[in-house]
Amino acid sequence: MNRQSDILCRMHEIDEHFMQIALRLARRGRGAVEPNPTVGAVIVRDGKILGEGWHEQFGGPHAEVNAIMAAGKNGHDTRGATMYVTLEPCSHFGKTPPCIQAVIKGQFARVIVAMQDPDEKVSGRGLAQLQEAGIEVATDVCNDDARELLAAYIKLRTKQRPWVICKWAQTSDGYLALPADQDRWISSPESRMKVHELRTLCDGLLVGVGTVLADDPLLTARNVDIKRHPTRVVLDSSLKTPAKSKLIRSIGDAPIIIATSQQGITENPKRTDALRKTGTEILELPCTADGIDLAALLDELGRRDWTHLLVEAGPRVLESFIQNQLADELHAYVAPIHTKPKANLPHFDINDVLHDGKYVQTAEESVGADSLHVLRLKA
Ligand SMILES: NC(=O)c1ccc[n+]([C@@H]2O[C@H](COP(=O)([O-])OP(=O)(O)OC[C@H]3O[C@@H](n4cnc5c(N)ncnc54)[C@H](OP(=O)(O)O)[C@@H]3O)[C@@H](O)[C@H]2O)c1
Ligand SMILES: [Zn+2]
Repeated sequence: MNRQSDILCRMHEIDEHFMQIALRLARRGRGAVEPNPTVGAVIVRDGKILGEGWHEQFGGPHAEVNAIMAAGKNGHDTRGATMYVTLEPCSHFGKTPPCIQAVIKGQFARVIVAMQDPDEKVSGRGLAQLQEAGIEVATDVCNDDARELLAAYIKLRTKQRPWVICKWAQTSDGYLALPADQDRWISSPESRMKVHELRTLCDGLLVGVGTVLADDPLLTARNVDIKRHPTRVVLDSSLKTPAKSKLIRSIGDAPIIIATSQQGITENPKRTDALRKTGTEILELPCTADGIDLAALLDELGRRDWTHLLVEAGPRVLESFIQNQLADELHAYVAPIHTKPKANLPHFDINDVLHDGKYVQTAEESVGADSLHVLRLKA
């Protein structure tokens, strides 16, 4: 390697190092900033960090402005410094003035971004304005990591639908429930804690009416640091959800949407009324052969700016999302229990999903006694 390419390689390594710090900062905003993107920024001069910031709260200042303020508080001038930011700075007025203005005012020498804005209407505009102001700009540093971090935001901006995660707990032989004489959970306490942490990062948790009738679940985020209370969604085409279920009785804890058909409403006027009186939203949607039209539901949730939907249903709803490739990510908690069921228990096995070939495993980790398999929809 000659000397010049050696220097370029070293500069690239330095850029990646600081961008990774910005990405770590960005992650701190998860659950609090959506539907905005999670963004982090680091201001550097001569290899020294002058200020760090991230987008902390929806409606609050953006990462770039927080980093500039932090540098000021630390007694540093930003003139001639480099800003590393995980997403192209915004160039339009939103809840706050455009970050571009603050960056230009800060007289930075360089701005390095991990990815351009995925919204085609504004993509590249912020970077062009920086260049016009005489600031050196580089893009796509740690681009894969930034795209991974912002996968849900990118989907909402490009497909106007939330990112869908299907989660289930199964025995090693693929059963989603244990025989009635085994009064215990399938998954370990550590796994259940991890699920509650994931719940509080989501806009909504979804089950089918089969799960409501079988388990009478609460579907709330509990016993973890609560960032927000996700809305509970039930797919229920013939409106069978009992007004006395734990779910409906706990409406004060988090909102509820029952997605049903026109027939479900017209054939059950009393129950419709009773549920509406509790504050439950009855959402009428078209149906397909499987039940509620999931594509229509996701379009509606996208219109409401939802970024994350966690599906925690039984086999019928899991099958619908996964077969139709409407789930982006799958989390299967496989417990070291082998059950030879006497009764007809619900069955949904990760091995069948892998065999089907539409999803690919991207991670596997131990959580308590279980192993968590994470799968992604193939591109
Ligand atoms: N281990 C786990 O992680 C886990 C999690 C959840 C549940 N479970 C177990 O699973 C069992 C219940 O299984 P399940 O399959 O009945 O529950 P489910 O998948 O949650 O609910 C199924 C019902 O949802 C309704 N539905 C509406 N739209 C649908 C659509 N597009 N696709 C599919 N279904 C739609 C259907 O009823 P309508 O036709 O009346 O609308 C259907 O019968 C219980 O034993 C429960 O304990 C286990
Ligand atoms: Zn901004």
